[in-house]
Amino acid sequence: MNTDLRPALIGGNWKLNGMPGDCRAFAAELAKKLPEGPFPEIVLAVPYLLVAEAVETFRSLPVRVAVQNVSVYESGAFTGEISAQQAKAAGAEWTLAGHSERRQLFGDTDADVAERIKKALAAGLRVMLCVGEPEAVRAEGGQEAWVTNQLTSALADFDSANAGRLAVAYEPIWAIGTGHTATPADAQAMAAHIRGCLAQLLGGSGAAVPVLYGGSVTPENAGSLLACPDVDGALVGGASLKAASFASILAAAEVAP
Ligand code: PGA
Repeated sequence: MNTDLRPALIGGNWKLNGMPGDCRAFAAELAKKLPEGPFPEIVLAVPYLLVAEAVETFRSLPVRVAVQNVSVYESGAFTGEISAQQAKAAGAEWTLAGHSERRQLFGDTDADVAERIKKALAAGLRVMLCVGEPEAVRAEGGQEAWVTNQLTSALADFDSANAGRLAVAYEPIWAIGTGHTATPADAQAMAAHIRGCLAQLLGGSGAAVPVLYGGSVTPENAGSLLACPDVDGALVGGASLKAASFASILAAAEVAP
C-alpha cells in the first residue's frame, strides 16, 4: 500500500450469505474489535435484501454499503432485476461489477460488465471492478493479457473524470474460495500491471484508482499482501463473514507500510 498516493480500501463480499439480523450482530461485534483509526475505506457488499438494514446498522461505523451487482437495465419488464438507481435509493454507495462468479455462473459478458459500470456511475454509485484469470490461463502465462482484455472492454467508454469513483480488484479465479491465495509476489506483479493498464486507459487520472487483491485473503496472509507497494487493499469473501476476522484484516491494513 502507498497511502500517500491512493486511499487504502478494504472490501467485504458476503455473496449469498446472511439473514436479517446478521448485519446488527456483525456491527456490534465489529464495533468492539475495530482497530484504532485512521481506518482504510471499508466497504461491505451485502445481498440486496440486507442493504437497508446494513445502511442503518453501519451508519455509526466507518463502513459503507455496496451491492454485489446492478442490472444493465434502468427499469421495465425485467423480472428479478435490481437497478443501479434502486440500489442507490436504498442507501448503497458502491457496487461490485464483473465478479468472476457473475461471469462464470450467470454468463456476464465483458459487454454486460461495461454496461453495468455505466449504469452504476449514472446512478451515482462507485464501482469496484473485479478482474482475474482462470487457472488454465495462468498455467500458460496468459494472465496479464487476460486481465488487460477485461479492463480494456470494461472501461472502453469510461470517462476518466470518474476515476475517483473506481476501484479495481484483481481476483484470480483459482484463488477465490479455495484457500490457495496468490503469493505476494504474484499479487504485486499483477497490481503493477493493472496500474499500467489504468494509466493507458485513463491517463493520469488512473493513478488515483485503488487496486485491490482478492482471493482467500485471511487475517494470516493479509499483512504480507497489503505490504506490496501496488496493492492498495483487499476484497475479502469468506473472511468478511465474521466480524472478528474482518477486523483483523482491517488491522493488517492499518499497520501495513
Ligand atoms: P474469498 O472470496 O475471500 O472467499 O476467496 C473473495 C471474493 O470472491 O471476492
